[in-house]
Amino acid sequence: MKRKLALLMMAAVMVGSLTACGGGSSDGGSTTDTTTSDTANKDKPLVWFNRQPSNSSTGELDMTALNFNEDTYYVGFDANQGAELQGTMVRDYIEANIDSIDRNGDGVIGYVLAIGDIGHNDSIARTRGVRSALGTGVEVDGNVNSDPIGTNTDGSASTVQDGTLEINGTTYTVRELASQEMKNSAGATWDAATAGNAIGTWSSSFGDQIDIVVSNNDGMGMSMFNAWSKDEGVPTFGYDANADAVAAIAEGYGGTISQHADVQAYLTLRVLRNALDGVDIDTGIGTADDAGNVLSDDVYVYNADERSYYALNVAVTAENYQDFTDSTKVYEPVSKQLDESSSPVKSVWLNIYNASDNFLSSTYQPLLEKYDDLLNLDVEYIGGDGQTESNITNRLGNPSQYDAFAINMVKTDNAASYTSILSQ
Ligand code: BGC
Repeated sequence: MKRKLALLMMAAVMVGSLTACGGGSSDGGSTTDTTTSDTANKDKPLVWFNRQPSNSSTGELDMTALNFNEDTYYVGFDANQGAELQGTMVRDYIEANIDSIDRNGDGVIGYVLAIGDIGHNDSIARTRGVRSALGTGVEVDGNVNSDPIGTNTDGSASTVQDGTLEINGTTYTVRELASQEMKNSAGATWDAATAGNAIGTWSSSFGDQIDIVVSNNDGMGMSMFNAWSKDEGVPTFGYDANADAVAAIAEGYGGTISQHADVQAYLTLRVLRNALDGVDIDTGIGTADDAGNVLSDDVYVYNADERSYYALNVAVTAENYQDFTDSTKVYEPVSKQLDESSSPVKSVWLNIYNASDNFLSSTYQPLLEKYDDLLNLDVEYIGGDGQTESNITNRLGNPSQYDAFAINMVKTDNAASYTSILSQ
């Protein structure tokens, strides 16, 4: 923070003196550069995070974007492992509460599902994970169909099927009563307000059939919990382990999944730091750095072919939520300050696709802001509107001003909107 202020003040003084002596030419701005290298923008370190460059219809990774240059990486989390955990968490809850779960006693355990973004790999994986664990998934071309169903109160939908669970020798039917992509009219996905409205509509037409609420994330899950399920005592499950959701477990929120944002935020900036320092990419990751920062392999995996770091997920339920109440605490094994003599201050341009995304704004960005100090990175944070890439790319007008870039796309297909700017 202080560093940023000092730089801004320095920049203001320099601009002021240029103007005073009439030297304010159109490229005068370069005088205020914080960069220390002459590296071309196309060769600067680049990290994609949270939204993996990929085809939003097929999920196929965009290897051109992931190999943009030799210092390009993706940082996210293991979507399949997390999705399986979420599905298992819901199924375990049903099994443990089978005597009281069927609220209207109709013999069908009904759930509704809030879907974040039908073209986002993480969202797709979570929908599949829940359907697989509950037996409601229908396979298409070897994968569980992840499309929303609208409503299915009579069990006639073909996108999902009625599942069965064997519990203590009895067979129970599980039904996905409704699911919907929570996208608002302006186009923003993972939209919490839309989920709050949806539960209002669903509960007023078939509320007594809803025994469980499941959401692809906590933002939407908490919106539904606060709007309806908390008062009704209906367990609601999300994903992200945002602080408000973890706290709500004490009030009946069923559970959530930590995607280890504390590890992801570190990795996001750490890969840039390592590339800028010209050290082995594993420094401070799988191999301890001079300050002693190191991650153990139970919290992340690196897939070299995919150029991707994936943090591992942990289920957060009534049993262990006390350990997760502070979602913005830096991960202790990687919390040591780097020495400025070997890792001098560098400037990074970083964007968040939607400044109002619950997870990114309440959990991820606060963590990034803590790690940027520890890693001596002066990060400029840009918040998008969640709808259009240009709202963000317009604010990458002068990439030469930065040493490295961290990008969170609006749509996973759109990597070229950014790389084309860096290639100019
Ligand atoms: C999070 C969501 C978030 C999304 C944004 C996901 O990993 O779980 O909460 O909205 O990222 O891309």
